[in-house]
This record gives sequence, structure tokens and C-alpha cells, in this order.
Amino acid sequence: MDGGATAVARAHSNIALVKYWGKRDATLNTPAVGSISVTLDALYTDTRVTFAPDLAVDEFWLAGCRSDATRITHVLDLVRGYAASMGLPTAGLNAVVSSTNNFPTGAGLASSASGFAALALAASGAAGLALPARELSILARHGSGSAARSIFGGFAEMHAGTAADGSDAYAEELLDRADWPLAVVVAITEHGEKSINSTIGMNESKASSPFYQAWLDSADGDLAEMRGAIHDRDFTRLGELSEYNCLKLHALMLTTRPALIYWNAATVAAMHAVQGLRAAGVSAYFTIDAGPQVKVLCRPGDAAAVQHAMALVPGVHEARISALGPAAFRLE
Ligand code: DP6
Repeated sequence: MDGGATAVARAHSNIALVKYWGKRDATLNTPAVGSISVTLDALYTDTRVTFAPDLAVDEFWLAGCRSDATRITHVLDLVRGYAASMGLPTAGLNAVVSSTNNFPTGAGLASSASGFAALALAASGAAGLALPARELSILARHGSGSAARSIFGGFAEMHAGTAADGSDAYAEELLDRADWPLAVVVAITEHGEKSINSTIGMNESKASSPFYQAWLDSADGDLAEMRGAIHDRDFTRLGELSEYNCLKLHALMLTTRPALIYWNAATVAAMHAVQGLRAAGVSAYFTIDAGPQVKVLCRPGDAAAVQHAMALVPGVHEARISALGPAAFRLE
């Protein structure tokens, strides 16, 4: 097979401190609100993409198992479109995509974020394109909104944008990870697949929660405050705002019909344990996405104590310490 038609990329997962929930345009997958995240060093996806003439369809292999390629094909079609406009031969070819995560898939650890960021970089590279980070971010967004942020390392902000074609809905780096080292302890309370995926859940929230409009109206204020906390390296402000924004999101989820209850008993116990840590003088703050896992933000010097406290929570299977991660990069 022509070596020029293969590329391998690694992208790290991220967790939002100010969260994305709700779409402005479902077809373009533009978010209704901006978001700010940190990229995680400990959780990543490696993806190999090969465009080849002998494939009847796109194939997607996740951890060695043939999986549904619908969303993958959507991103590959955009890559083929770019390739066609450049007159590249990969424009007319299907692809084999093989991905592995170093963490449980589909359990609220943002596998779609790292997965589609790795796909955007590997697929564009395999097609023979050298896209700038902004274009990669837009490409990743078409796969999953949160993936737009995983193109970048450290602290990243996703812009909701206003353009009808989605051209201003991309992420960019706010701060390099070296400029403010933080740690995130990931407490895994469940290894299984989550019940309702984010895409479906956020559409249901938009359609049914009386809190949805308030969620939209308060987003810009949270984003501005978070930018300020990052700019000032104010960890207390960053942590308090992260918890507040997370609980606001879960209030929106809980008031969706049917209700989106992503927490289990260990999730709630972990939240109380984080409050207990603070009462004991350890500066730690939780955040939770569309799943039962709890991520605890802390300073690197407190990470071991936070990990220890999380591991003691009944129902927590594993607590992993992560530093902030790098931007997506090519392995081959
Ligand atoms: C709760 O990016 O998974 O993690 O764009 O529909 O694929 P789609 O949604 P997705 O939603 C992430 C939601 C969240 C918050 C966040 O990461 O900002």
C-alpha cells in the first residue's frame, strides 16, 4: 500500500471547566455556547488512518473490534472534500480507521473528544493535507463538539461562533500547560457504557428543560470569569467556577424530560469527599461530564492526597492522576 496514504495521530482527552451542552446547528454541529477545557495527559486516543483503493466502504476498528463508522465517514467525507479541492488522489478513496483508547470508552471520559481530534489529524494527514490547527479544530468539531478543543494542549477555549457556515466555531489555546501546571484526578466509578450519549441528551435538554434558556443566557458570564481566573492563575476562582458550572449543567440535565441522571452513588460520594478535602484545607474541586466519573482539579502538589481520598470513596474503582496534556500530534 502507498505509504503516503497512511497517518497515525495521538490526541488527548479534555474536560470542560465551562461546559458545552446544546447545539446552535445540529447539521454543522456548532455549539450553542462556548466552552473552556483543560487537556489531560493521562487519557488519549491513537488513531491510524489509511486511504486505500480496494475498500468498498470506510471501516472503523475500535480496540480491534469492527464498529459503526457513520460519524467517522462524516468526518472522512469532509476530508475527501478538501482533498478533491486540492486535486489529491485520496479524494476518491475509502479508508480504514483503527483507534485505541488508553481508558474505558463511552463512560464519560470524553473518548469522542480525543477520538475525533485524533481522527481529524490522522485523516487529513493520510489524505495528504497539512491543515492549520483552526481547520483541524473545525474538522474535529464535525465529529464531536468537545473534540474541537482536544486539538490543543493546556487550556483551550471553544467559540460558539455566529457564522451560518460554522467557520467561526473552533477552539484555540488559551494558555500553554507549562504556564500553569495543574493536576486532575480522574475517579472512575463505572467501567460500562453510559446510557444516553451527549448528542441525544443535549438535544433533549434543548427541547424540554425549562432551564435551557437560563443555561444559554449565563454562559458568556461564566466564560469571561473563567478566562479571568486563568489569566490571573487564580486557582480558587477557577475551581469554584468549575464546580458551579458543572452543577448548573447537571441541573439542566436533571430537568430534562426524560431526566438525564448521569450520576451513580459513588459519583455523589466523591463530590462529598471533595468538599471534605476542602474542609480539611486541601484546595480541590470536582467536575463531571455526561457520565458517572468525577474529575478533581487540584494543584500538582496536592494530587497524591486527592488521589488517596478518591480511592477511599466506596464505589470508586480507580483514581488516576493526570497532568495537563499536549496538543494533538502525529505519531507517523
Ligand atoms: C458534557 O462533544 O460529546 O462533555 O458534539 O454531540 O458529540 P457532540 O457532544 P460532545 O458533548 C460533550 C458534553 C460534555 C461537556 C463538554 O465537554 O464541554
